Amino acid sequence: MCGIVGYLGNRKAYPIIINGLKRLEYRGYDSAGLVVMEDDGFGLVKTKGKVSELEEKSKFLNNGSTLGVGHTRWATHGEPNDVNSHPHLSNDEQIVLVHNGIIENYDSLKTELIQKGFVFHSETDTEVLVNLIQYFKDKENLNLTEAVRYSLNEVVGAYAIAVMDKNDPDEIVVARLGSPLVIGIGDNEFFIASDASPFLEFTKEAFYLDDGEMATIRRDKDIDIRKIKDNLKVTHTVQELKINLEEIEKSGYEHFMLKEIYEQPKSIRDTMRGRLLVDEGIIKMAGIWDYQEKFLNAKRIIIVACGTSYHAGLIGEYLIEDLARIPVEVEYASEFRYRNPIINRKDVVIAISQSGETADTLAALKLAREKGAFIYGINNVVGSSIARITDAGSYTHAGPEIGVASTKAFTAQLTILSLIAIKLGKHNGNLSKERFNSLISELDNIPELVQKTLENTAEKVIEISEKYKNATNALYLGRGYNFPSALEGALKLKEISYIHAEGYPAAEMKHGPIALIDENMPVVIIAPRTGYYEKVVSNAMEIKARKGQIIAVVNTGDTELSKIADHVIEIPNSSEEFSPILAAIPLQLLSYYIAVKLGRNVDQPRNLAKSVTEEKKI
Ligand code: AGP
Ligand code: GLU
Repeated sequence: MCGIVGYLGNRKAYPIIINGLKRLEYRGYDSAGLVVMEDDGFGLVKTKGKVSELEEKSKFLNNGSTLGVGHTRWATHGEPNDVNSHPHLSNDEQIVLVHNGIIENYDSLKTELIQKGFVFHSETDTEVLVNLIQYFKDKENLNLTEAVRYSLNEVVGAYAIAVMDKNDPDEIVVARLGSPLVIGIGDNEFFIASDASPFLEFTKEAFYLDDGEMATIRRDKDIDIRKIKDNLKVTHTVQELKINLEEIEKSGYEHFMLKEIYEQPKSIRDTMRGRLLVDEGIIKMAGIWDYQEKFLNAKRIIIVACGTSYHAGLIGEYLIEDLARIPVEVEYASEFRYRNPIINRKDVVIAISQSGETADTLAALKLAREKGAFIYGINNVVGSSIARITDAGSYTHAGPEIGVASTKAFTAQLTILSLIAIKLGKHNGNLSKERFNSLISELDNIPELVQKTLENTAEKVIEISEKYKNATNALYLGRGYNFPSALEGALKLKEISYIHAEGYPAAEMKHGPIALIDENMPVVIIAPRTGYYEKVVSNAMEIKARKGQIIAVVNTGDTELSKIADHVIEIPNSSEEFSPILAAIPLQLLSYYIAVKLGRNVDQPRNLAKSVTEEKKI
């Protein structure tokens, strides 16, 4: 994925674009570029590297310009270098374009354009599109809007684009299919962006372009929105965005990730707000309630997701099967979509995704819908692509998550899954009234326990991170509900510290991985006093006997495992169902502090982007 930002109005476009790109940088950060409309044409600068480098290199631009677009890239076609960076110019240098997504048929289009005499400078798919626009513009004598529409009808793939014409200092044309694009509307001014963060201080009035739509934005005119396919006019209602500027700023924290870790007592509370009504003894979730027949009659629930969201899905399986006794399967969306899965009309397919834009998850969901399943979304980003195509869903309401490593979205997903499991368990008679009441009052208290966990574990975790920061490998073990916690702990460490880590069910150790254990191997064991505690202690003994270094995440007051562990991190006591939420906290902190001590770019780890909206990578 990448970030797009644009401005047309009466303010200076340059600072809006540069600051906007900084806010969008989590979406891609291998190169960046921008173009502003100057008196004598395009002022274009692009570079490999971060937005700060772009800022450095673009200082000479005419800052008075009131029209421009910018791009921060996550390369899919062509390595991250200056030439492949966006914006891309057409051969005649009259048209300039920024693009988020992939033009899948770029190769055949490129061949045709080369035959027509076009020359290509970059390896990107994007440059094909801008030249295609030039081609139609010249051949059919079209204006920019029409040329864009003609071109997009030839294109297969995904895109959010913004296009400008050198001869028209009053217009930007944008379009969307499969990649997000929001248009902010101020007083005689317009903002375009991949998400609303670049323009929140200027306006909260905005609307999201739908897939298959394009818009012509002209100075002092109404926006003209059309369907790309048939040019039919479309209208959108402008909505008031609910996000605040503070939510997308670091608020004094060194990194977004740390801020987001510390936000969890609040974000979990926000997830439950208006849903968990303990005094009334109910869980209110319109998405489930309105379709309860679908859930209660479901032959099975299939959860599709990627990465951290997949790990949340695995815990969801334990929760829903335990509490509601409905069979659950959890699949990597990327596998599910390509393996011709058997899906029935009586299946409920739940897609979990923080961004709601992950390409594999979106495709898996579309496949499930085609096969007649009822599709449900658990998403954090309001108005995201997944949220739009599902039959129903629940937003996690964790607030914007900007650090590339997912933290608060994960615990919010676990909270939603707990609510769903408890609600279904109540309605299908698997949970007695007493059990239901005890679960909901415990869940209601989880934000306080998360707060305590943060307060009580941070110091210890910092100490441990110092000791193990130079490890080259790590193992994470857990059983039952906390087997997925181990997977998630390992993923967090890998992605931000670049230390190789594996998550394993503790009992699987002896089937192979135990061969890895020696005095240099840190083994994080997640073993709250519920579930299979005694068995995990036995697994820990096996590791100790081979001189592994044990970091034990246990409940307050633990005596057994604490005795054999080299380091002990205590989390509050809870039912097993909620222990993964509490266990996640020190594991997030551990990966964070190790990465910081190693001098890694915590919020923007190498090779990653916040959400993977493309399938291919160079
Ligand atoms: C998590 O820390 C990752 N960066 C990544 O695995 C992420 O969870 C995955 O790409 C799924 O994203 P989504 O939740 O936005 O769909
Ligand atoms: N496919 C385009 C490229 O590789 C855009 C990638 C993006 O969305 O960042 O340049």
